[in-house]
This record gives sequence, C-alpha cells and structure tokens, in this order.
Amino acid sequence: MNSHKFNQIASVYDETRPVPVELLLFFRNEVTNYLKTNCGEKKRYSLLSIGIGTGRAELSLWSKNVELYGIDINKEMLKVAKERNRTVYTCVANALEIPFIHSFDLVSMIHTIQFVKPITKFYTQLKAVSKHVCIGDLYTSLYDNVIVAYYINELEKNNCFISCNSIDKIEEKLEKWGAQLIKNKEISAKLRLEKIYTIIKDQVLSRFWSVPYKVHKKAINSLDYFIKKEKIDLKEEITTSARAVLRFIYFN
Ligand SMILES: C[S@@+](CC[C@H](N)C(=O)[O-])C[C@H]1O[C@@H](n2cnc3c(N)ncnc32)[C@H](O)[C@@H]1O
Repeated sequence: MNSHKFNQIASVYDETRPVPVELLLFFRNEVTNYLKTNCGEKKRYSLLSIGIGTGRAELSLWSKNVELYGIDINKEMLKVAKERNRTVYTCVANALEIPFIHSFDLVSMIHTIQFVKPITKFYTQLKAVSKHVCIGDLYTSLYDNVIVAYYINELEKNNCFISCNSIDKIEEKLEKWGAQLIKNKEISAKLRLEKIYTIIKDQVLSRFWSVPYKVHKKAINSLDYFIKKEKIDLKEEITTSARAVLRFIYFN
C-alpha cells in the first residue's frame, strides 16, 4: 500500500487493527523495561516513533517519564494522533529523511517497516538517530473468520487480492541488523462480525489492497447473498487471536 492511501482511511484506521489493552500494556512494559535495562535509570527518556500513524499503538508509550516524538509521512494519520495527545511532538516527515540530529534513547517502529523503501537508506538514517530500536507489530487478526475469507475469495476470483506485505518477509533483514531480543505475546480476542462486515462494506480493506470499486461492489453483493443464504448472524461475536511481536535491536 502506498503511504498516501492512508489519507483515505486515517479516521477508521484503528478499526482495521484493533489492539486489546492487555497487549498495549505488554508493549509499554517491554519498552519501559528495555529502556531501564539498556539506557540506565533516567528521569525522562526520549523516544522517537517512526510511522506513528494515528498513535494507535505508540501513544501507549507516552508517560511523564517518556518524551514521545512521532514522525509520519502522512499528515491525516498524524492529525488523528495529535488530536488524541497534544503533548506528543509530531511532524510530517519521511523515514528516509529523518529530520532530527538528536540521539533518541529508543526508536520504535510498529507495523511500518514494510512500507519504507529502500531499506538500506533507511538503515543509515536509523543508525544516525539511536542505538536502540524496537521494530514490531500489534494487532487483532481480522482475517480468520468466514466473512473476510469469503470476501477475499471473491476478490481472488478477479485476481484482485494481493496480501499485505507481511512483517515476516523482512524477518531475515532484521536478523542481519542484529534483532535478537524478540518478545511475543498472543492472546484470544473477541470481534463482532457486524464490525468486520462494516469495515469490508466501507471499503476499508479494498482501499488497502487497491481493489477497483467495481470488483469490490460485486464481491459485496455476493457476500450479502452468502450471509443471507447461510443465515449468518452478524450480531455474533467471534473469537480470534491478537498478537504483539517486538524485536529489539542494538547498534554498537
Ligand atoms: C500501518 S500504519 C502503522 C501506524 C502505527 N505505527 C500503528 O501501529 O498503528 C503505517 C504508517 O507508516 C507511515 N509511513 C509509510 N511510509 C512511511 C515513510 N517512508 N516515512 C514515514 N512514515 C511512513 C504511514 O503513513 C502510516 O501511518
């Protein structure tokens, strides 16, 4: 997905990637422990989030002991973050041209690295602003349910589904960068089918995947028919999984 497409979905972005509070607390605790262990005890740590987006995940790192800076290439996403927390320093900037010479205690990058290319240029930029980096992902899976599976199948019939760039694809690169300290947490989470249906119907996923409107519309019509035929109750709550994957990197 091109970063400018986040413009169209900024106001609903968080709904596509809900994170249970338990995982946000896990993220916050892991980062706090890492800072204390690796940067020494300080009154205040400075932290830069690259691709902070709406602040969905990274705003949970903010505290009176953490001075949080956030950059993002997309101003609509940043606007949402700023509305949520006015004390976070935000600025529109490209990860390939980080506008700071300041050395941060830690850089955090959640669900963003796959959008930044070329990665080699980014690596040089990253090393210049911090010795400590946390690259990861936090999400509730929207995909393992009958509604999304059916919709994706309809898109595939039209060769219109290209799965999102998974963070797994850059695993090898991160290992070369020295990502050794990996923290995982997986819990079960509840989602209402109605919520998932609305996300699909409002074209949030199809915009993510650059699906032409005509193809999306046809898939929705077919999905509506399927829901009726199979008597699927949209009020039903399904159980899915929610995960946090954090990789800590130290550049010496
Ligand atoms: C999937 S969102 C993740 C946002 C947030 N970190 C989260 O976990 O919710 C990816 C974000 O990266 C931003 N982004 C993509 N390419 C970027 C780049 N080259 N420089 C800065 N931000 C970028 C997008 O605008 C978007 O807000």
